[in-house]
Amino acid sequence: MKKRLFALMMASMMVMGAMVGCGGGGSDEPAPTGDGEETQGDAADGNTDMSNVEIGVCIYKFDDTFMTGVRNNMQAQADTLGAKIELVDSQNKQATQNDQVDTFITKGMTALAVNPVDRTAAGPLVEKASAAGLPIVFLNREPEPDVMQSYDKVWYVGAKAEESGTMSGEIIADYWNANKETADKNGDGKLQYIMVTGEPGHQDATLRTEHSVKALQNAGIEVEEIGNDTAMWNKVQATELMNAFITSQGIDSIEAVLCNNDDMALGVIESLKANGYNTGDASKFVPVVGVDATAPALEAMSTGSLLGTVLNDAENQGIATTNIAAMAAAGQEITQDTVGYEITDGKYVWVPYVKVTAENYKDFQ
Ligand code: GAL
Ligand code: CA
Repeated sequence: MKKRLFALMMASMMVMGAMVGCGGGGSDEPAPTGDGEETQGDAADGNTDMSNVEIGVCIYKFDDTFMTGVRNNMQAQADTLGAKIELVDSQNKQATQNDQVDTFITKGMTALAVNPVDRTAAGPLVEKASAAGLPIVFLNREPEPDVMQSYDKVWYVGAKAEESGTMSGEIIADYWNANKETADKNGDGKLQYIMVTGEPGHQDATLRTEHSVKALQNAGIEVEEIGNDTAMWNKVQATELMNAFITSQGIDSIEAVLCNNDDMALGVIESLKANGYNTGDASKFVPVVGVDATAPALEAMSTGSLLGTVLNDAENQGIATTNIAAMAAAGQEITQDTVGYEITDGKYVWVPYVKVTAENYKDFQ
């Protein structure tokens, strides 16, 4: 927690420091950066007055636990910077989102930030932004590389999904290796698992699935998939899916459940609990792992019903997105010095994932 707060303060101070430095305002001391370097001279000498910054933000749908964390952090960071921001709910419809972007442009917003409904439909949004000369920052759903290259004022803020897949697989592998006798319920030497995936086509669903299994195999574990389906990132759908798997497979043949996010892991746990599992009796336990480290997931870790998760850092993803949009709208060059985050290939901010286990989950609560 301390580390995250520090990162947040640094990112805010750097942006404000760049603003002060540019405006020639009263500060004698250059703002520090996270790596101890000074930022002051690095800010471009364009207009850094945040009062002209108005960021129009589209979120794929407001009713998404993780994205709610991201958008709350975006709002808070805009307030810190003194930049205006308007967040709208695209209600999971790409056509609605396209209209919202048009409206933002008509209203004279000076930057756009978009969490696309369909990441393969980002191209037309970039064309709109480019026709209006506006910067556009995508987040959480990564556009295709050719779309990212099609305009100089497009950026992406996200996390390397393969990292989270690897970490969640390692959590299950560690459990398996530490509990050899009990974890292999049918004693066949193989780990029979169920995979509950997010929305098809989402890079986080595809890569988390692939890399979590790879991590198990890399740990020398022989695996057998006995169920795999999507629950669309959704808790209720995951409960229904798990009920169906329990009916078809029998609860004792399920040796682990890997979920692409925490809401689905919590949905799976509801189903297990309704069947008398994961309520504290060690002989009736199925290890379940998720991704995001949401508050309810951390709570489930404290009671032991959820084995582990991976922090998907909503705070830093929200801050990075807002900083880039604000600084680009203010005419600043987008660099680590101006926005507080390393910029890869001139366009990408990759916020690291963190493995969350029984040992460290309290640090994230
Ligand atoms: C993922 C996150 C999911 C869901 C999804 C929305 O990164 O793990 O819980 O929020 O983004 O695009
Ligand atoms: Ca087995």
